Amino acid sequence: MRRKVIAGNWKMNMLPNEAIKFIEELSAQVKNTSNEIILCIPYTDLFYGLLTAQNTNIKIGAQNMHWEEKGAYTGEVSGQMLKSIGVEYVIIGHSERRQYFAETDETVNKKIKSALQNELKPIVCVGESLEQRETGNQEEVVKNQIKLALEGITKEDLSKIIIAYEPIWAIGTGKTATSNDANEMIKTIRNEVLSLYNEETAQKLIILYGGSVKSENSKELFSTSDIDGGLVGGASLKPDEFAKICLSV
Ligand code: 13P
Repeated sequence: MRRKVIAGNWKMNMLPNEAIKFIEELSAQVKNTSNEIILCIPYTDLFYGLLTAQNTNIKIGAQNMHWEEKGAYTGEVSGQMLKSIGVEYVIIGHSERRQYFAETDETVNKKIKSALQNELKPIVCVGESLEQRETGNQEEVVKNQIKLALEGITKEDLSKIIIAYEPIWAIGTGKTATSNDANEMIKTIRNEVLSLYNEETAQKLIILYGGSVKSENSKELFSTSDIDGGLVGGASLKPDEFAKICLSV
């Protein structure tokens, strides 16, 4: 049986004092769950978040990284830097980064490789746009994103990766994919991984759903055959609401 993973993506929200308070409140509520709980937080919160999350079952991740170790890349943060302060996870290829910051399948692949080299666990985002879904291309788009993201990644390394399927039309819009549609796409991703690797690797892979997840829909989504948890944006900004989602399965 695969474990359940619930990851919050705070995006560009929360100051350090808010992050500390949030983690204190959340950790008290989720301390007895065996679900894996991850908070992907802004760079400026990481150090405070890591200190506050010590001795709790909350793991801390970043939301992006550069693929080079160091150098003349003003404003960027490398995997080595994240690792050096104790960060465990990093989101790679979020659709907002693809849309607003020119992230491509190629840079996603480079970042995954660099994250793995630095012993960070990547949470790799894929998902189709509304137009791609309306023209019936969603499966091809997502399968292609998976293939390009995982190019040159060994099956041993794949076991350290989490995939998040986030249809762009469901992000921040209040429109959640139905649990059936989300589960079907996640099965498609698992099948693609099967064809690229093997059955065992595909069955072990943790695949999350993201896009307007909230406490009212999380149980139904996370109870399907192939959805192993969620990547939660807006609803991860309130500790009580996020705790409910973490404890819904
Ligand atoms: P929302 O939960 O706000 O729709 O955001 C989803 C998301 O982008 C998580 O990475």
